[in-house]
Amino acid sequence: MTNILCIGAGYVGGPTMAVIASHCPQHRVVVVDINAARIAAWQSDRLPIYEPGLEAVVRSALNRNLFFSTEVDRHIDEADIIFVSVNTPTKTFGQGAGRAADLQYWEKTARQILHNATTPKIVVEKSTLPVRTAEAMEQILNYNSKGLHFDVISNPEFLAEGTAVQDMENPDRVLVGGKDSISGQKAIQAIVDIYAQWIPRERILTTNLWSSELSKLAANAYLAQRVSSINAISALCEKTGADVTEVAHAIGLDNRIGPRFLRASVGFGGSCFKKDILNLVYLCEFYGLKEVANYWEQVVSMNEHQQTRFVSNIVSSLFNTIAGKRIALFGAAFKANTSDTRESPALAVCRGLLAEHAEVVITDPYALENARNELGEQADRVIFEPDPYVAAREAHAIAIVTEWAQYTELDYKTIFASMIKPAFIFDGRNILDHKRLYALGFNVYAIGKPPLTHNHAD
Ligand code: UDX
Ligand code: UDX
Repeated sequence: MTNILCIGAGYVGGPTMAVIASHCPQHRVVVVDINAARIAAWQSDRLPIYEPGLEAVVRSALNRNLFFSTEVDRHIDEADIIFVSVNTPTKTFGQGAGRAADLQYWEKTARQILHNATTPKIVVEKSTLPVRTAEAMEQILNYNSKGLHFDVISNPEFLAEGTAVQDMENPDRVLVGGKDSISGQKAIQAIVDIYAQWIPRERILTTNLWSSELSKLAANAYLAQRVSSINAISALCEKTGADVTEVAHAIGLDNRIGPRFLRASVGFGGSCFKKDILNLVYLCEFYGLKEVANYWEQVVSMNEHQQTRFVSNIVSSLFNTIAGKRIALFGAAFKANTSDTRESPALAVCRGLLAEHAEVVITDPYALENARNELGEQADRVIFEPDPYVAAREAHAIAIVTEWAQYTELDYKTIFASMIKPAFIFDGRNILDHKRLYALGFNVYAIGKPPLTHNHAD
């Protein structure tokens, strides 16, 4: 039996450890967090995060070989392998503010491990961190007077929210990076052995530490870059009469490009893309690679432009003023099938509309609570309404900002009847039947498509 500990019971730590525990009944898996409410929620009927399939996996292992606890210190010493998945937000102060990763939680955790350990341990970097952090952590850990040796491994997560369980069960690949030394190789093997319980060996890649760390940042930068690229094309489509869905289909059929991650949208969100790209940008600047830094920074700028453009489009279409007008935002989550609102384009649009003094109503099946917290003081100026029909009542416009499947199934005839006329719909995710909505009487604006508008002056 191996004692596995995970520090950080968040979006990454919780699902990752639940799947490991369910596939490795021979190992004992403990997940600790300083947030007692979160730990209590993991042990309750209402898990702290919404993730399809997660409840079943947690139930299968909870209190068998999966345990949640707030006693960080005690569990550190019992562990053979410690995964660290504490948050690594973007720094808000000092050098690299707004770009570099804030490593204070990570370093604090490393020192806490050192303080409590009486036996050697493998420490696994699960949080996304700047390249060469593992080495820095190895130095902190191994500069000790206890005679203890620690091996640091990089094992980045590639979980997409909404499919986290599926991504863990059946990953495209697992990356395990470590040192070339004998103990480094032994540590790599120990981590490989865990994943090999259910993942084919050829999908578990072993690399050096820095390749593993950089691959994580590069993978997210590439994915985000695809979204920004198609969004850049969407702006041109709107000017030229081309249809971005047709263009995406046409280019995606090229095997070298492939069809995935080509959905034009109101922009990408989520806790990772922006943060990881800014991290990459900071690294490039740090190493004097200004042009490389500028190149990647454009991916973030284009994303911000797409969100601003969406708001401007609403304002100009609604006769250049939305002050006092009720606008219903369909969606708050940064994408469908999650309650997560971190960096959500829905909230960026909400802030843009509030700046124009609109009356904003947000509806979402799972993310309203998070949206309220995320909006902070501005939440007082927003109406949160779980029922989309009620949200749209007496509204001048609806904006689809999260691609929840349920929004495609609503009775838009009834919705149209309840709205102020002319009624507008802005499909920021291109999920609705635009021709049908137009036939119902809506003025329809989609991303990267010519608008379908009635000429009310006739
Ligand atoms: C985090 C990082 O944001 C991401 O970069 C990384 O890839 C994985 O870890 P996530 O799991 O989504 O992702 O973060 P979050 O849901 O905020 O969870 C982190 C948890 O760590 C929180 O529950 C927090 O309470 C806990 N934590 C933080 C500790 O237990 N100890 C600390 O010192 C700091
Ligand atoms: C991402 C990575 O996919 C994952 O591997 C990594 O570990 C964490 O970051 P996640 O943030 O959960 O996962 O979501 P993802 O599905 O990648 O979507 C990110 C954003 O891009 C969402 O806002 C989504 O709506 C948007 N998106 C995605 C588009 O706008 N168009 C697309 O074609 C795809």
